[in-house]
Amino acid sequence: MKKIIILAAVLLVVSCKKESQEPFGKTETPTEAASPTTATPVTLGKEIFEGKGACVACHKVDAKLIGPSIQDMAKTYKAQNGNLIAFLKEEAKPIMDPAQYEVMKANLAITKAMSEEELKGLEAYIYSNLK
Ligand code: HEC
Repeated sequence: MKKIIILAAVLLVVSCKKESQEPFGKTETPTEAASPTTATPVTLGKEIFEGKGACVACHKVDAKLIGPSIQDMAKTYKAQNGNLIAFLKEEAKPIMDPAQYEVMKANLAITKAMSEEELKGLEAYIYSNLK
């Protein structure tokens, strides 16, 4: 009988310990998950511009290629108070080179399917090249 009581006491202590440690372990997880997140809208935008957006095929940072340079985009959109996100959603007309719009228009199918976060990233990346 004594043995059973001791065993029960030990079990109680062990289970209490586990419970008190759990919240500690739980609070640790979010901080761990948050710390390696270095992705900013700009880095996300750069990643898309050079990656799945394939925008670099026609747009260079500092020189005109097939389309205007990223620096020119930033300059023009800032000067004319344009809305890059609306353009990429095909909700706003081109303000840079309407004569070449057809070439760009094909890419709007890609950008229209992007999330708001991705579009904000592209916008942030384009403006990060403002000279
Ligand atoms: C096949 C070549 C090509 C690709 C790929 C391309 N563009 Fe363009 N882009 C153009 C051309 C040509 C223009 C000039 C016509 C115009 O102004 O709409 C342009 C213009 C633009 C403009 C200025 C629009 C305006 O107001 O006139 C923005 C912003 C832009 N592109 C963003 C992007 C982004 C973001 C991507 C990647 C998702 C991309 N482009 C991919 C060819 C391309």
